[in-house]
Amino acid sequence: MSLKSKTLKQEFTLAQVGQPRDLGGGLVLRRAATEDTEPLAQLVGRVFGRETFSEHAAAYARDLMRASHPVIGPSNTLVVEDTRARKLVSTVCLIPQTWTYAGILFSVGRPEMVATDPAYRRRGLVREQFQVIHAMSAAMGHLVQGITGIPWYYRQFEYEYALDLGGGRIAYFSNVPMLKEGENESYRLREMTLDDIPFVSALYDRDCARSLVACPRPEWLWRFMLDDAPEPRAWRTPLQIIESIDGQAVGYVAPSSEIWSDALVVDELAMSAGQSIRAVLPMLLRWLKPRGEAAAAKQNKTVKGILFAFGREHPAYDAAPDLLSQNRPPYGWYLRVPDVPSFIRHIAPALEARLARSSVAGYSGELKISEYRRGYKLVFQNGKLGTAETWQPTVEDGGDCGFPPGTFLRVLFGEKSLGELRAFYPDCSAKDDAAVLLDALFPKQYSCVMPVG
Ligand SMILES: CC(C)(COP(=O)(O)OP(=O)(O)OC[C@H]1O[C@@H](n2cnc3c(N)ncnc32)[C@H](O)[C@@H]1OP(=O)(O)O)[C@@H](O)C(=O)NCCC(=O)NCCS
Repeated sequence: MSLKSKTLKQEFTLAQVGQPRDLGGGLVLRRAATEDTEPLAQLVGRVFGRETFSEHAAAYARDLMRASHPVIGPSNTLVVEDTRARKLVSTVCLIPQTWTYAGILFSVGRPEMVATDPAYRRRGLVREQFQVIHAMSAAMGHLVQGITGIPWYYRQFEYEYALDLGGGRIAYFSNVPMLKEGENESYRLREMTLDDIPFVSALYDRDCARSLVACPRPEWLWRFMLDDAPEPRAWRTPLQIIESIDGQAVGYVAPSSEIWSDALVVDELAMSAGQSIRAVLPMLLRWLKPRGEAAAAKQNKTVKGILFAFGREHPAYDAAPDLLSQNRPPYGWYLRVPDVPSFIRHIAPALEARLARSSVAGYSGELKISEYRRGYKLVFQNGKLGTAETWQPTVEDGGDCGFPPGTFLRVLFGEKSLGELRAFYPDCSAKDDAAVLLDALFPKQYSCVMPVG
């Protein structure tokens, strides 16, 4: 797999989607077409606006449905139409993307824009679309599906919370330092341009390198994020270059207009090597505060501060614990790995490298991992992964370790340690040898994924 291609656009072919499906009662599940753009925007705006219409969500839908969209477009969007009422009543799209695990590329399908008209809910319309989306994702060769979704719901579709999502530190507005009498800003912000890509991509790559799972951003993706066509402009908050007052770029920031709970979310912040983050933060907070207040007023929400949503660790937290005073725990990415042994084989070089550095270097033997209803058998020879395959646990052979169904993903993706899972789930267990091996293979590790879409 290569990131070098101009885009990663993978499109559902008609053969993959299949013919429109009759769901009964006049409801038809089909692939979207360009003509669906405005009805879809209206559906999504109504559903996500809840009491009021969300222009932001509608603009997002119009952008995704552009035929020129580099990763989505109508062909990667499903809709359910009530053919009797002649209206769209439910939708899901799939955003293909490439992530890395300890630097190893793997392909991911990200279901997004999941919405059903309130009058058509709890009839299985999303369930039906997820079956199609999963088949499409498999046909595109995705090893993993990942979704940032509402609590619990996606567990029904074989997803498990397996990566941190968001979380970070809040700077309350009351804590934002004012400029002193006669003091001037030493730094300022300006909109990022295409010419900045070499500078910012180096900073982004450096941050990806400290994240076990990351979403690399090749040049075409930066270009897409900086696209100033009217459709993306209607919902995106422009990326900003942080520069010294004499025009020297020292970093970049990705603000958003999202108010999460009671704080304006900032998605990314990276500074050049040798640049003090502490020196920049007061100016940045002063710049963000009025924008947070304006975004909250527009969305009819209250806002009390700015959330630097970079996950559990970030140099900014160490630079200014006094300003970024409040911890906000992360939510979770839902992940689905339909073929766990295949994923393990894919990341074998990372596992072998960990093993080589561990107290069980050169390990030879089996590791049988039970998820009770199914299991996986890994065989190592002299520290190398020989095989990884499915294996059926039985009452007589429960394997070397046990995980409640789905929860093995949490150690696989480094979100929790084996010890943490054992403390939490009475039915998570490991024999002594297996516990040492699992700790060596799957250490807990920081991840912060900035996805496509
Ligand atoms: C969440 C939402 C998309 C569900 O759509 P839907 O078409 O009603 O979903 P389905 O009927 O296919 O749901 C599948 C199953 O989950 C159940 N279900 C539906 N909504 C649920 C909810 N909010 N919580 C728990 N279960 C739910 C359904 O009853 C169904 O169960 P069954 O198959 O055992 O009968 C819809 O309520 C919605 O648009 N909500 C507002 C927007 C939103 O939050 N979108 C998700 C963003 S990640």
